Amino acid sequence: MSTTFTIDTSTSRANPTPAPMKRVTVPAIRRRKGGEPIVMLTAYTVRMAQLLDPHCEILLVGDSLGQVIYGLPSSVQVSLEMMCAHGAAVVRGSYHSLVVVDMPFGSYEASPEQAFASASRIHKETGCAGVKLEGGAAMAPTVAFLSERGIPVMGHVGLTPQAVNQLGGYGARGRSEAEAEKIVADAVALERAGAFAIVVEGVIEPIAVAVTEAVACPVIGIGGSARCDGQVLVAEDMLGMFERVPRFVKRYAAISEVISEAAAAYAAEVRARSFPGPEQTYQPK
Ligand code: KIV
Repeated sequence: MSTTFTIDTSTSRANPTPAPMKRVTVPAIRRRKGGEPIVMLTAYTVRMAQLLDPHCEILLVGDSLGQVIYGLPSSVQVSLEMMCAHGAAVVRGSYHSLVVVDMPFGSYEASPEQAFASASRIHKETGCAGVKLEGGAAMAPTVAFLSERGIPVMGHVGLTPQAVNQLGGYGARGRSEAEAEKIVADAVALERAGAFAIVVEGVIEPIAVAVTEAVACPVIGIGGSARCDGQVLVAEDMLGMFERVPRFVKRYAAISEVISEAAAAYAAEVRARSFPGPEQTYQPK
């Protein structure tokens, strides 16, 4: 039986999707407002993308990779080159989810033109469907500039990790009335500028709900509320790769224990000369 592969717009010629035209699209995400919750997880590598892809509508190549993959102190040090390399790997490892790549700090804030140059590079080098940028009303002209030129943009309000030096830490936002009003106004400004979805991170629950109700595009919560239109977590946090995680993370597995136990078993067998055994060695024919 022969299989016909069709190329879809998010899949490279070298990697035809086995499920033609099945990749989730930006309009399909927009239509999920108020409907079935959107499942989004971060992915930075090909293998993780392959494993998560069937379960998600969106894979986010988050700049959290700075801390998770590179051990950097924050996402501020992440470069465009890193985002392009990991974005391309995640696109190669997926064929169902919409892939969104974070624009790193310093690659978009100076002007809409700077943002377009960075976002178009991300698109060309990765094949992703959209980019995410942090910031509220101040970023609305940039969101409009990109959206009007064919680059779908996901916004990110509330706790915006790239502004950690300005915010002074990663504590929950929206505790004062003024801050709460600003977060909602920021989300409304991004949506009016054309954002196809907005992440709301680390806010007190009533603000996450208020943002979700205030905008017509889907709102994806992280440290928000189950009443948002979808949820996102850093995959390594949710898989239990780290001992210390933010309060809003639920550990669905204990991967760090699995890895430690496997490494300990391997080390013991190497030291006992019981690995490699007959199954893992080549013998003369
Ligand atoms: O960088 C990231 O992973 C993110 C998510 C946590 C929303 O922005």
